[in-house]
Amino acid sequence: MKRTIIRSTGKYLPPRIVTNDDLKQWMETSDEWIEQRTGIKQRHWIPEEGGVGPADLGLEASTIALDKAGWQPEEIDLIIFATLSPDLNFPGSGCLLQHKLGLSDTPALDIRQQCTGFLYGLEIADAYIRSGFAQKILFVGGEVHSTGLDISTRGRDVAVIFGDGAAAACLEGVETESNVGVLAHLLHAEGKYAESLMVEAPSSRLNPRFTKDMFATGRHFPTMDGKAIFKLAVRRLPEVTVKVLEKAEVPLDEVTLFIPHQANLRINQFFAKTMGLPQEKVFNNIQKYGNTTAATIPLALDEAQDAGLIGKSGDVVVFLGLGAGLTWGASVYRYM
Ligand code: ACO
Repeated sequence: MKRTIIRSTGKYLPPRIVTNDDLKQWMETSDEWIEQRTGIKQRHWIPEEGGVGPADLGLEASTIALDKAGWQPEEIDLIIFATLSPDLNFPGSGCLLQHKLGLSDTPALDIRQQCTGFLYGLEIADAYIRSGFAQKILFVGGEVHSTGLDISTRGRDVAVIFGDGAAAACLEGVETESNVGVLAHLLHAEGKYAESLMVEAPSSRLNPRFTKDMFATGRHFPTMDGKAIFKLAVRRLPEVTVKVLEKAEVPLDEVTLFIPHQANLRINQFFAKTMGLPQEKVFNNIQKYGNTTAATIPLALDEAQDAGLIGKSGDVVVFLGLGAGLTWGASVYRYM
C-alpha cells in the first residue's frame, strides 16, 4: 500500500525583525494592543528596499529540506508552491523556484489557498503519490506580505498581523502495510465569504485593472472583516478536527500534537478550550513570526520537530487551519 510521508522540512525567515514597537513609527498602535488581541510580539519582513520574493525565501527553505531528505533537485517529480503573495501576478512562484533550483523541466504547480495552502497542498501531493503520478514532491509555502500592507493607521488591523517567511516539506511515497503517513484529510471552502478577506485591485474584473484613484483610496491593500473570520474560525476548526479524526479512526487522546494555522493566538487558545485539550497540546509560534499564511503550518511543523515534541514512530499530528476564501480543513499524519 502506498503512503505519503513527510521526509523532511526546512524553514527560512528573512533576517529583518520588526517588533510591535517598531510598527509605531508608521501607525498608531501599541505593543499591548497587538499582543493582547493576537499574541504577536514580532514578525520578520524582507529588506525595506524589496527585491526578495516568495520564490527566494522558498529556495532557502527548500535547500534545507532537500539537504535533510538527501534528495537532489533532479529527483523531484513535482513542485507545489502555495502563496497568496506571488513574486509576479503570473507566472506562478513555483516556476521561478524551479529555475532557481537549477531544474529545466520539472512540473511546478501554484495553489492559491491562502492560510490552508499546506492542507490543500498535502492532499494534492497525497493524491499524486497514491495514484502513482509522482513519488517525490517538494511542497513550499512562502509569503512576502510586507510589501503589500497598508502600514498607516488606516490599515493597522491587518498590517500588524502579517509576517514574511517560507517553509518547505519533502513529501515521499513509501510502500508499507502499516497505517502511517498521511491518514486522512478534510477540505472545505465557502465562497460566500470571499470578500471578507481579500485584495480587490488590481484585478481583471475592473476595467482598467488599476487607476490612480484606486491607489489613492488603498484598494490594492488587503481588507478583512476580522471579527467575522474570528467567529467562523472558532466554530469551523473544532468541527473539522473532530470529523477528520473520525475519518482517520484516531481517538482524540492518541494525538501527540495539534498544529494549527497561526492567524491569532486567541483563535488557537479557543480551539484548545473547545476541544478540551491542555494548551500545550496545541503548538504556537505566532509570537515570533506573525501570520506567514501558506508557510505557517510547515514552519510550525519544522519547529515542533526540532523541539522534539513530535517525530517518534507512532506520533500523531493533526494539521488544521482556516483563512481567506474562505477555506478550511484538517489532516491527520502518523510518523512511520
Ligand atoms: N492597534 C491599535 N488599535 C487597533 C489596531 C491596532 N493595530 N487595529 C485595530 N485597532 C482598533 C480599531 O480601530 C478598533 O477601535 P474602535 O473600537 O475605536 O473602533 C478596536 O481596535 C477594535 O478593533 P477590531 O478590528 O474590532 O479588533 P478585534 O478584536 O476584532 O481584533 C483582529 C482584530 C486581531 C484582526 C481579529 O479580528 C482577528 O484576529 N480576526 C481573525 C483574523 C483571521 O483569522 N484571519 C484569517 C487568516 S489570514 C488569511 O487567510 C490570509
